[in-house]
Amino acid sequence: MAAVGGRGSQSQPEPRSRTPTLGTTGALSAETLEINRAAIELECTRLSYSYPAIKGSPAKPVFHGIDIKVCKNELVAIVGPTGAGKSTILRCLGGFVHPNEGHVYLHGQEVLRPSSKIVLIHQSIATFPWMTALDNVKLALTCKKVDEKEAERTAAAMLDLVGLGANKSSYPKELSGGMRQKVAVARALAASPSILLMDEPFVHLDEIAAEELRREIHSLVFNPESTLDAVVLVSHNLTEVVELADRVYVMNGSPATVIDEFGIDLPRPRALRDSSFLLSVDHLMGDLNTPKTKP
Ligand SMILES: Nc1ncnc2c1ncn2[C@@H]1O[C@H](COP(=O)(O)OP(=O)(O)OP(=O)(O)O)[C@@H](O)[C@H]1O
Ligand SMILES: [Mg+2]
Repeated sequence: MAAVGGRGSQSQPEPRSRTPTLGTTGALSAETLEINRAAIELECTRLSYSYPAIKGSPAKPVFHGIDIKVCKNELVAIVGPTGAGKSTILRCLGGFVHPNEGHVYLHGQEVLRPSSKIVLIHQSIATFPWMTALDNVKLALTCKKVDEKEAERTAAAMLDLVGLGANKSSYPKELSGGMRQKVAVARALAASPSILLMDEPFVHLDEIAAEELRREIHSLVFNPESTLDAVVLVSHNLTEVVELADRVYVMNGSPATVIDEFGIDLPRPRALRDSSFLLSVDHLMGDLNTPKTKP
């Protein structure tokens, strides 16, 4: 992946911890500090991609003025037109690319490089065809230096969790698209991450498989056995976003910025034909149809 803002090749500074800002009324209680502290946060004044292959070509600004906070037990979605920089935001949150001006914090500690605490599920269903479902999930544990027996036990437990307990020995070609994406979810959860980033995870599934997985994903990722604190979902599908998200950041413009932050407080499971559900979809659609403004 190309380095962003030229920071990829520089030596990495020491991690800094972040002190929560105190209000004008003075010291906050420990409880309030805990509530205010984001599980993961991106503060980005500016992000541009440079093209080192083309000498002298100007850096291309992607987005600016982004401040995204995701709190404990929240599923936050990011929507926006194609090219707005949604996948780039996930790469920033995962520590794969760095803003030119800005920082990412995980539980108050600066994220400087990828780690097993933050996992990313891509839109393409990424399973290795020559490995069984169990071996695909075990892969997540190789970098954690877990012994073979323990890796096998954890991988099996994760497959049970996603409802594929009976398919541990199946190869990907023997599984449906939805089941293969569940293997990818099980692999992501096996690393005991704190944050799950999902980039259009249902886009290559047929509508029935996608709907089944959407229905399960919220309870799956916030299952008491899961280590997850928060989930960030990127999607073009506004119905999917309103079905799943607690809060939505809407990006628009060129270079893009956040033009709306929209909370969705509907009871779960959400009824897709309810008027309040449809009003939320309309609200987001209205945001995306807002004429682009120059910065
Ligand atoms: N590695 C890269 N090098 C240079 N430019 C890039 C790179 N990755 C993305 N871009 C550019 O950055 C902009 C944002 O890309 P990004 O993939 O983040 O958009 P997106 O909102 O996820 O789009 P989509 O909805 O189509 O997936 C685009 O203009 C893209 O061409
Ligand atoms: Mg994208």
